[in-house]
Amino acid sequence: MTDTSGPSPADVAPIDDWNRLLDGRTAVVTGGGAGIGKAVCVLFARHGVHVEVAEVDADAAATTVAEIIAAGGSARSHVVDVTKPEAVSTFAADVLADHPALSVLVNNVGDYRPLVRFPDSTPESWQTMYAVNLQHIFAVTHAFLPTMMRQRRGSIINVHSVEAMRGYPGDPVYGAMKAAAAAFTTDLAIAVGRHGVRVNGIGPDLIQTPQVDYLSGYEDKTDLWPSWAPAGRLGWPDDVARVALFLASDLSAYVTGHNIPVDGGSLAGGRWFFSPTEGRFVNRPRNL
Ligand SMILES: NC(=O)c1ccc[n+]([C@@H]2O[C@H](COP(=O)([O-])OP(=O)(O)OC[C@H]3O[C@@H](n4cnc5c(N)ncnc54)[C@H](O)[C@@H]3O)[C@@H](O)[C@H]2O)c1
Repeated sequence: MTDTSGPSPADVAPIDDWNRLLDGRTAVVTGGGAGIGKAVCVLFARHGVHVEVAEVDADAAATTVAEIIAAGGSARSHVVDVTKPEAVSTFAADVLADHPALSVLVNNVGDYRPLVRFPDSTPESWQTMYAVNLQHIFAVTHAFLPTMMRQRRGSIINVHSVEAMRGYPGDPVYGAMKAAAAAFTTDLAIAVGRHGVRVNGIGPDLIQTPQVDYLSGYEDKTDLWPSWAPAGRLGWPDDVARVALFLASDLSAYVTGHNIPVDGGSLAGGRWFFSPTEGRFVNRPRNL
Protein backbone atom coordinates (compact mmCIF):
# COMPACT_ATOMS: atom_id res chain seq x y z
CA MET A 1 0.00 0.00 0.00
CA THR A 2 1.30 3.46 -0.88
CA ASP A 3 1.91 5.79 2.04
CA THR A 4 0.22 9.07 1.09
CA SER A 5 0.91 10.88 4.37
CA GLY A 6 4.55 11.78 3.66
CA PRO A 7 6.05 14.83 1.97
CA SER A 8 4.50 15.51 -1.40
CA PRO A 9 4.62 18.21 -4.10
CA ALA A 10 0.92 18.62 -3.30
CA ASP A 11 2.02 20.34 -0.07
CA VAL A 12 2.44 23.45 -2.23
CA ALA A 13 -0.99 25.09 -2.04
CA PRO A 14 -2.67 25.33 -5.46
CA ILE A 15 -3.36 28.81 -6.85
CA ASP A 16 -6.75 28.73 -8.55
CA ASP A 17 -6.86 32.27 -9.91
CA TRP A 18 -3.64 34.22 -10.42
CA ASN A 19 -5.62 37.44 -10.70
CA ARG A 20 -7.24 36.95 -7.30
CA LEU A 21 -4.41 35.76 -5.10
CA LEU A 22 -6.27 36.38 -1.83
CA ASP A 23 -9.77 35.34 -2.88
CA GLY A 24 -12.16 34.74 0.00
CA ARG A 25 -9.76 35.78 2.75
CA THR A 26 -9.98 38.59 5.30
CA ALA A 27 -7.13 40.97 6.10
CA VAL A 28 -6.50 43.61 8.74
CA VAL A 29 -4.31 46.53 7.64
CA THR A 30 -3.27 49.15 10.20
CA GLY A 31 -2.78 52.70 8.98
CA GLY A 32 -4.73 51.90 5.83
CA GLY A 33 -5.87 55.46 5.23
CA ALA A 34 -2.80 56.80 3.43
CA GLY A 35 0.57 56.02 1.93
CA ILE A 36 1.80 52.45 1.97
CA GLY A 37 -1.13 51.16 4.05
CA LYS A 38 -3.69 52.53 1.61
CA ALA A 39 -1.91 51.01 -1.39
CA VAL A 40 -1.86 47.65 0.42
CA CYS A 41 -5.61 47.84 1.14
CA VAL A 42 -6.50 48.72 -2.45
CA LEU A 43 -4.26 46.06 -4.05
CA PHE A 44 -5.33 43.36 -1.59
CA ALA A 45 -9.01 44.15 -2.28
CA ARG A 46 -8.38 43.80 -6.03
CA HIS A 47 -7.11 40.32 -5.24
CA GLY A 48 -10.35 39.31 -3.57
CA VAL A 49 -9.66 39.91 0.11
CA HIS A 50 -12.11 41.62 2.45
CA VAL A 51 -10.11 44.40 4.13
CA GLU A 52 -10.65 45.61 7.69
CA VAL A 53 -8.94 49.02 7.82
CA ALA A 54 -7.64 50.21 11.21
CA GLU A 55 -6.96 53.92 10.97
CA VAL A 56 -6.77 56.85 13.39
CA ASP A 57 -7.95 59.33 10.73
CA ALA A 58 -11.66 58.72 10.12
CA ASP A 59 -11.80 60.60 6.80
CA ALA A 60 -8.75 58.81 5.44
CA ALA A 61 -10.18 55.43 6.42
CA ALA A 62 -13.52 56.26 4.81
CA THR A 63 -11.79 57.33 1.59
CA THR A 64 -9.87 54.05 1.33
CA VAL A 65 -13.03 52.01 1.92
CA ALA A 66 -15.03 54.09 -0.59
CA GLU A 67 -12.34 53.57 -3.26
CA ILE A 68 -12.33 49.83 -2.67
CA ILE A 69 -16.11 49.53 -2.79
CA ALA A 70 -16.32 51.72 -5.92
CA ALA A 71 -13.90 49.30 -7.59
CA GLY A 72 -16.10 46.34 -6.67
CA GLY A 73 -14.15 45.22 -3.60
CA SER A 74 -15.08 44.70 0.02
CA ALA A 75 -13.80 46.68 3.01
CA ARG A 76 -14.82 48.22 6.33
CA SER A 77 -13.20 51.03 8.28
CA HIS A 78 -12.51 51.22 12.01
CA VAL A 79 -11.40 54.42 13.66
CA VAL A 80 -8.75 53.17 16.05
CA ASP A 81 -5.49 54.46 17.50
CA VAL A 82 -3.39 51.31 17.55
CA THR A 83 -1.00 52.81 20.12
CA LYS A 84 -3.80 52.37 22.70
CA PRO A 85 -3.98 48.73 23.82
CA GLU A 86 -7.62 49.03 24.96
CA ALA A 87 -8.60 50.38 21.55
CA VAL A 88 -6.81 47.46 19.89
CA SER A 89 -8.78 44.99 22.07
CA THR A 90 -12.10 46.58 21.09
CA PHE A 91 -11.09 46.67 17.44
CA ALA A 92 -10.01 43.02 17.44
CA ALA A 93 -13.26 41.93 19.11
CA ASP A 94 -15.27 43.82 16.45
CA VAL A 95 -13.32 42.26 13.59
CA LEU A 96 -13.33 38.72 14.95
CA ALA A 97 -17.07 38.84 15.70
CA ASP A 98 -17.71 39.13 11.95
CA HIS A 99 -14.57 37.51 10.56
CA PRO A 100 -13.38 34.76 12.91
CA ALA A 101 -11.32 33.24 10.09
CA LEU A 102 -9.11 36.28 9.54
CA SER A 103 -5.83 35.08 8.03
CA VAL A 104 -3.83 38.14 6.90
CA LEU A 105 -2.47 40.95 9.09
CA VAL A 106 -0.38 43.90 7.93
CA ASN A 107 1.10 45.91 10.80
CA ASN A 108 1.89 49.06 8.85
CA VAL A 109 1.63 51.96 11.30
CA GLY A 110 4.90 53.69 12.10
CA ASP A 111 6.37 57.17 12.22
CA TYR A 112 9.71 58.88 12.72
CA ARG A 113 7.99 62.07 13.88
CA PRO A 114 8.50 64.01 16.01
CA LEU A 115 12.17 63.64 15.15
CA VAL A 116 14.23 64.14 18.32
CA ARG A 117 18.02 63.95 18.17
CA PHE A 118 19.31 61.52 20.77
CA PRO A 119 21.11 64.10 22.96
CA ASP A 120 17.81 65.99 23.25
CA SER A 121 15.64 62.91 23.79
CA THR A 122 13.73 62.11 26.98
CA PRO A 123 11.96 59.10 28.50
CA GLU A 124 8.76 60.56 27.03
CA SER A 125 10.19 60.75 23.49
CA TRP A 126 11.54 57.17 23.82
CA GLN A 127 8.02 56.05 24.85
CA THR A 128 6.50 57.84 21.84
CA MET A 129 8.83 56.01 19.44
CA TYR A 130 8.08 52.72 21.19
CA ALA A 131 4.30 53.24 21.04
CA VAL A 132 4.06 54.15 17.36
CA ASN A 133 6.72 51.81 15.95
CA LEU A 134 6.74 48.67 18.10
CA GLN A 135 4.20 48.29 20.90
CA HIS A 136 1.18 48.17 18.59
CA ILE A 137 2.83 45.42 16.54
CA PHE A 138 2.88 43.32 19.70
CA ALA A 139 -0.71 44.29 20.62
CA VAL A 140 -2.34 43.78 17.22
CA THR A 141 -0.41 40.59 16.49
CA HIS A 142 -1.28 39.24 19.95
CA ALA A 143 -4.96 39.90 19.26
CA PHE A 144 -5.14 38.11 15.90
CA LEU A 145 -2.53 35.34 16.17
CA PRO A 146 -4.74 32.86 18.10
CA THR A 147 -7.35 32.63 15.33
CA MET A 148 -4.62 32.11 12.72
CA MET A 149 -3.04 29.34 14.80
CA ARG A 150 -6.42 27.66 15.31
CA GLN A 151 -7.08 27.68 11.56
CA ARG A 152 -3.46 26.72 10.82
CA ARG A 153 -3.44 29.53 8.26
CA GLY A 154 -1.99 32.99 8.53
CA SER A 155 0.39 35.55 7.10
CA ILE A 156 1.60 38.43 9.24
CA ILE A 157 3.53 41.26 7.58
CA ASN A 158 5.32 43.88 9.64
CA VAL A 159 6.18 47.06 7.78
CA HIS A 160 9.18 48.52 9.57
CA SER A 161 12.01 50.32 7.73
CA VAL A 162 15.28 49.88 5.94
CA GLU A 163 16.61 51.68 9.03
CA ALA A 164 15.97 48.40 10.86
CA MET A 165 18.82 46.95 8.82
CA ARG A 166 21.44 49.69 8.74
CA GLY A 167 22.80 52.45 10.92
CA TYR A 168 20.40 55.39 11.15
CA PRO A 169 22.11 58.46 12.57
CA GLY A 170 19.00 60.67 12.47
CA ASP A 171 17.29 59.11 15.48
CA PRO A 172 18.88 55.97 16.93
CA VAL A 173 15.80 55.38 19.10
CA TYR A 174 13.57 55.18 16.01
CA GLY A 175 16.17 52.91 14.37
CA ALA A 176 16.22 50.68 17.45
CA MET A 177 12.42 50.32 17.44
CA LYS A 178 12.41 49.38 13.76
CA ALA A 179 15.25 46.89 14.31
CA ALA A 180 13.24 45.39 17.17
CA ALA A 181 10.23 45.04 14.85
CA ALA A 182 12.43 43.18 12.37
CA ALA A 183 13.77 40.91 15.12
CA PHE A 184 10.25 40.25 16.43
CA THR A 185 9.31 39.23 12.88
CA THR A 186 12.05 36.63 12.71
CA ASP A 187 11.57 35.38 16.26
CA LEU A 188 7.80 34.98 15.98
CA ALA A 189 8.14 33.27 12.61
CA ILE A 190 10.21 30.51 14.17
CA ALA A 191 7.82 30.19 17.10
CA VAL A 192 4.63 29.80 15.06
CA GLY A 193 5.72 28.30 11.75
CA ARG A 194 4.62 24.78 12.63
CA HIS A 195 1.14 26.19 13.38
CA GLY A 196 0.73 27.28 9.77
CA VAL A 197 1.42 30.97 10.38
CA ARG A 198 4.09 32.84 8.42
CA VAL A 199 5.64 36.11 9.60
CA ASN A 200 7.69 38.39 7.38
CA GLY A 201 8.78 42.01 7.37
CA ILE A 202 9.16 44.77 4.82
CA GLY A 203 11.75 47.52 5.19
CA PRO A 204 10.76 50.45 2.98
CA ASP A 205 12.98 53.31 1.94
CA LEU A 206 12.51 56.21 -0.49
CA ILE A 207 8.73 55.69 -0.85
CA GLN A 208 6.72 58.83 -1.63
CA THR A 209 3.91 59.14 0.96
CA PRO A 210 2.24 61.87 3.02
CA GLN A 211 4.70 61.09 5.84
CA VAL A 212 7.85 61.17 3.74
CA ASP A 213 7.79 63.67 0.88
CA TYR A 214 10.82 63.08 -1.31
CA LEU A 215 9.64 65.40 -4.10
CA SER A 216 9.15 68.80 -2.52
CA GLY A 217 12.27 70.94 -2.65
CA TYR A 218 14.02 68.50 -4.98
CA GLU A 219 12.12 69.32 -8.19
CA ASP A 220 15.36 70.32 -9.97
CA LYS A 221 17.36 67.32 -8.72
CA THR A 222 15.61 64.39 -10.40
CA ASP A 223 18.82 63.56 -12.32
CA LEU A 224 20.35 62.52 -8.99
CA TRP A 225 17.99 59.57 -8.40
CA PRO A 226 20.58 57.10 -9.77
CA SER A 227 22.84 58.39 -6.98
CA TRP A 228 20.25 57.90 -4.27
CA ALA A 229 18.70 54.58 -5.34
CA PRO A 230 20.37 51.93 -7.52
CA ALA A 231 16.95 51.33 -9.14
CA GLY A 232 17.29 54.87 -10.47
CA ARG A 233 13.97 56.27 -9.37
CA LEU A 234 11.76 57.30 -6.49
CA GLY A 235 9.63 54.53 -4.96
CA TRP A 236 5.84 54.57 -4.67
CA PRO A 237 3.40 52.91 -2.26
CA ASP A 238 2.45 50.38 -4.96
CA ASP A 239 6.06 49.16 -5.00
CA VAL A 240 5.59 48.12 -1.37
CA ALA A 241 2.03 46.86 -1.80
CA ARG A 242 3.14 44.37 -4.46
CA VAL A 243 5.69 42.84 -2.11
CA ALA A 244 3.05 42.73 0.63
CA LEU A 245 0.74 40.87 -1.79
CA PHE A 246 3.48 38.32 -2.45
CA LEU A 247 4.01 37.84 1.29
CA ALA A 248 0.28 37.64 2.07
CA SER A 249 -0.52 35.12 -0.65
CA ASP A 250 0.42 31.51 -1.29
CA LEU A 251 3.07 32.75 -3.74
CA SER A 252 5.28 32.93 -0.65
CA ALA A 253 3.98 29.78 1.06
CA TYR A 254 7.54 28.64 1.86
CA VAL A 255 8.86 32.07 2.92
CA THR A 256 8.87 32.97 6.61
CA GLY A 257 11.08 34.84 9.04
CA HIS A 258 12.49 37.24 6.47
CA ASN A 259 12.76 40.99 6.30
CA ILE A 260 12.71 42.26 2.73
CA PRO A 261 14.03 45.73 1.94
CA VAL A 262 11.80 47.53 -0.58
CA ASP A 263 14.16 50.38 -1.15
CA GLY A 264 15.20 50.57 -4.79
CA GLY A 265 18.47 48.99 -3.73
CA SER A 266 19.52 51.65 -1.25
CA LEU A 267 20.56 49.10 1.40
CA ALA A 268 22.44 46.92 -1.06
CA GLY A 269 24.09 50.01 -2.52
CA GLY A 270 25.68 50.80 0.82
CA ARG A 271 27.99 53.74 0.58
CA TRP A 272 28.54 53.54 -3.18
CA PHE A 273 27.17 56.58 -4.96
CA PHE A 274 26.60 56.81 -8.69
CA SER A 275 28.09 60.09 -9.90
CA PRO A 276 26.34 61.47 -13.02
CA THR A 277 29.28 63.83 -13.64
CA GLU A 278 31.94 61.11 -13.42
CA GLY A 279 29.76 58.45 -15.03
CA ARG A 280 30.75 55.79 -12.51
CA PHE A 281 30.17 54.70 -8.93
CA VAL A 282 32.24 56.50 -6.35
CA ASN A 283 32.68 55.73 -2.67
CA ARG A 284 34.10 59.16 -1.86
CA PRO A 285 31.80 61.63 -3.59
CA ARG A 286 33.23 65.12 -4.00
CA ASN A 287 30.45 66.50 -6.16
CA LEU A 288 27.84 64.07 -7.34
N1 LIG B 1 7.59 56.15 3.16
C1 LIG B 1 8.83 55.68 3.36
O1 LIG B 1 9.77 55.90 2.58
C2 LIG B 1 9.10 54.85 4.59
C3 LIG B 1 10.44 54.62 4.93
C4 LIG B 1 10.73 53.85 6.03
C5 LIG B 1 9.69 53.29 6.78
N2 LIG B 1 8.39 53.52 6.44
C6 LIG B 1 7.36 52.88 7.27
O2 LIG B 1 6.27 52.44 6.47
C7 LIG B 1 5.06 52.52 7.23
C8 LIG B 1 4.05 53.35 6.47
O3 LIG B 1 4.64 54.63 6.22
P1 LIG B 1 3.96 55.75 5.29
O4 LIG B 1 5.08 56.56 4.79
O5 LIG B 1 2.98 55.13 4.35
O6 LIG B 1 3.16 56.58 6.43
P2 LIG B 1 2.01 57.71 6.32
O7 LIG B 1 2.18 58.54 7.56
O8 LIG B 1 2.04 58.38 5.01
O9 LIG B 1 0.66 56.87 6.48
C9 LIG B 1 0.41 56.23 7.71
C10 LIG B 1 -1.07 56.03 7.95
O10 LIG B 1 -1.19 55.47 9.27
C11 LIG B 1 -2.15 56.21 10.03
N3 LIG B 1 -1.78 56.15 11.44
C12 LIG B 1 -0.75 56.81 12.03
N4 LIG B 1 -0.73 56.55 13.35
C13 LIG B 1 -1.76 55.70 13.59
C14 LIG B 1 -2.25 55.07 14.75
N5 LIG B 1 -1.67 55.29 15.94
N6 LIG B 1 -3.31 54.23 14.64
C15 LIG B 1 -3.90 54.02 13.44
N7 LIG B 1 -3.49 54.61 12.30
C16 LIG B 1 -2.43 55.43 12.37
C17 LIG B 1 -2.06 57.62 9.44
O11 LIG B 1 -3.25 58.37 9.73
C18 LIG B 1 -1.86 57.35 7.96
O12 LIG B 1 -3.09 57.16 7.30
C19 LIG B 1 5.47 53.10 8.59
O13 LIG B 1 5.69 52.05 9.50
C20 LIG B 1 6.76 53.83 8.29
O14 LIG B 1 7.60 53.97 9.43
C21 LIG B 1 8.09 54.31 5.37
